[in-house]
Amino acid sequence: MKPNSTNSYKNTSEPAEPGLRIAPVEETDFQTLTAWITAEFPYFKTDPNHYRKRMLDKPIETYKLEKNARMIGYIEIEYLTPDVARINGLGVEPDKRNNGYGTHLIHFALQRLNTPEITTVLLLVHPKNQIAKRMYAKHGFTFKRMFDQTISGEIVEEWQKHPHARARPAKKT
Ligand SMILES: CC(C)(COP(=O)(O)OP(=O)(O)OC[C@H]1O[C@@H](n2cnc3c(N)ncnc32)[C@H](O)[C@@H]1OP(=O)(O)O)[C@@H](O)C(=O)NCCC(=O)NCCS
Repeated sequence: MKPNSTNSYKNTSEPAEPGLRIAPVEETDFQTLTAWITAEFPYFKTDPNHYRKRMLDKPIETYKLEKNARMIGYIEIEYLTPDVARINGLGVEPDKRNNGYGTHLIHFALQRLNTPEITTVLLLVHPKNQIAKRMYAKHGFTFKRMFDQTISGEIVEEWQKHPHARARPAKKT
């Protein structure tokens, strides 16, 4: 279930470098956001009108990562059922990658989804996207299955994380 307050992000974004902040996307961000999404994920064609409608029709929340008030990344979360959420997309501007911003966005989303209700966080990733897969594995996601639909002919993997699962104690030998 979508957490009640859309403002709870304020306390979940860990301190980071000066000028960095995470905030909900606004109408004025849609042009840049949808251009990025279409460039990075050509199978997902979107434009500002489509994205606006999508956010109204679905329980989706999208956050931008800003550096000195300029958007340099985003993350989209969808609430699929009361206890399952999915990270639909995550991206960092190409010339800002490999600076920890993707990790910052994942931390943010996992903190946002750290509620008693959410027991499973899903995401979809292309099998060849090794950078993203390594990042997700580092944050506790594991391969669940090949997704049951192709996305524009592309097979994708579904990964999962159970935020409340306790780590198994190591076996005594
Ligand atoms: C995946 C993506 C969001 C990662 O963002 P980022 O800002 O580069 O992420 P970070 O800087 O936090 O790096 C995360 C890890 O990836 C590694 N990494 C980042 N870029 C790398 C590169 N070009 N080559 C090798 N490793 C790389 C980092 O070293 C880091 O590993 P570490 O935690 O062990 O140090 C970014 O590459 C991106 O926008 N890609 C295109 C869109 C996409 O694929 N999104 C995911 C869809 S499922």
